[in-house]
Formats: sequence, C-alpha cells, structure tokens
Amino acid sequence: MPSVKHIAVTDLRLSYGPKEVIHGVTFNVFKNEILGVIGPAQSGKTSLLRCINRTIEFTPGARVQGTIQVDGEDVRQAGDVFALRRRIGMVAPLPVGLPLSIYDNVAFAPRCAGMSRRSELDAIVEQCLRQAALWDEVKDRLDSLGTKLSGGQQQRLTIARALSHQPEILCLDEFSIAIDPVTTMRIEDVLKNLRQQMTIILVTNLTQQARRLADRTMFLWSGKIVELDRTEVIFSDQPASRQTYEYVNGIFG
Ligand SMILES: Nc1ncnc2c1ncn2[C@@H]1O[C@H](COP(=O)(O)OP(=O)(O)OP(=O)(O)O)[C@@H](O)[C@H]1O
Ligand SMILES: [Mg+2]
Repeated sequence: MPSVKHIAVTDLRLSYGPKEVIHGVTFNVFKNEILGVIGPAQSGKTSLLRCINRTIEFTPGARVQGTIQVDGEDVRQAGDVFALRRRIGMVAPLPVGLPLSIYDNVAFAPRCAGMSRRSELDAIVEQCLRQAALWDEVKDRLDSLGTKLSGGQQQRLTIARALSHQPEILCLDEFSIAIDPVTTMRIEDVLKNLRQQMTIILVTNLTQQARRLADRTMFLWSGKIVELDRTEVIFSDQPASRQTYEYVNGIFG
C-alpha cells in the first residue's frame, strides 16, 4: 500500500457565486495509488478535480478556499499555472480530440513545450500511444484524422494526449461514459499499469469500476466526504457509514 503523500487537500471549499458546492473537504492522495471518487450526480466530483489543476479558474464567479498542496507546494501559489497543469493530466468524460492527425494530437503538448526534433517526437508519440493501448491499432495510420477513430479509440487517444506532457498525476473524470464494456476493460488494464508511474484520481459513476481499480475509495455526497477508506472496506458489509453501504449496494443514488 503506497504511503508517501502526493496531494494534500485541507478544508477545501468551493462556491459558484453564492452557492457553496464543496463544503470543507480534507484528504490526502498517496503517490502511486489509484484513488477512486464515487458519489451521486452533482456531488462535486468534477469540481473537485478542477480545483486540483486550477481549471476552476476558467469559471467566472468560482471561489476556492482552503489549501491544495502537491508535493508540499500550494497549487494556488504556483507562479506558473501552465507548468502545474502539465504535472496534472486530465481526461474528460467524452473524448476531446483536436482536429488534427493522430500523430499531431499526441505531439501537440510536447511541441508546445519546445520539442521539435522529429526523432524525439516520434519516440514520445509511440510511447504514449503504447501506454494508452492504442499503438497497435493506429501505428499504420498516424497521419489520419484523430476524429475519425471510434469512440473508444478516441478516448484512448485522449489518454495518450494526457500522458504526452508526462504528468505525475492523472485525473480521469468518468472516462468510460461513452465507451463499450470491452474497451472500458482495456483502459482499466492501462490504468493498472500506469499506476506504477503516476498517481491517479479516478472519478467514476460506476462503483464497480472503483472496486476493481482503486486502492482507496472516497464517497463524496453533496460536497462532503461521507467516507474515505481502503476500497475493500468501502465495499465490505460494514463500511463506517450506512450511507456508504446503501450507495455502493445501489439502495440509493
Ligand atoms: N460552472 C458552474 N457554474 C455553476 N454551478 C456549477 C458549475 N459547475 C458545477 N456546478 C454545480 O456544482 C455542483 C457540483 O457539480 P459537479 O459537476 O462538480 O458534480 P459531479 O459530482 O461531477 O456531478 P456528475 O456526476 O453529474 O458529473 C452542482 O450543484 C452543479 O450544479
Ligand atoms: Mg461530473
């Protein structure tokens, strides 16, 4: 079980205008763990991820209080927000492909970071597509448009893109919402392997996905943490909270 603190969130509160939607949450994420985040719609799961990589700042009127530290540094004090976001990859529920070739989708971020040698770009494109379990399916057509791939392939391309800036933290927000169960399982295998290299926060509306993948699972409900514990405890007959038991057993939510 990993135990080095990677992310420390302390008394985090988030309001959109006058409405507070995260009500003072405190938790740690350990290096190289997969932290599952489950909870009903509108619990604040997506908002929580957006606070961590500071994309919440794109929403006018959003107000964050409390602290979020990555490796002991307060993300809100980070001078270079772009550098921070490169450290924290984000995969959205639906694939967000750039209208570019498969190759250029993955090479986009490295090029923005100044990489221009073709051999270096080739190497990183291949590595990321391999890590995302897509290489074998696309290696012969890297020049074709990414948007022409199937939904599941595009989602893996999105993961390859998130990996292309070599993040140390990968946040996934309901990545399997639009893909079939077989592709979902393939991506789950990808995540199991990636865990050796990075810390993963997995927001999922599929409680069984958290059960399969997460080392620890957080049950978030209406902007509060009901329970955070080892996944086997959360899914046991006796989690600490009755609400957790009822949610993971489909009695509500
Ligand atoms: N840009 C926004 N402006 C105003 N309110 C927002 C905004 N984004 C989210 N909210 C509100 O914040 C609360 C939490 O939403 P959030 O999207 O973080 O929940 P979620 O747990 O990810 O839900 P879901 O499972 O449906 O994706 C909800 O009440 C939502 O209406
Ligand atoms: Mg969401």
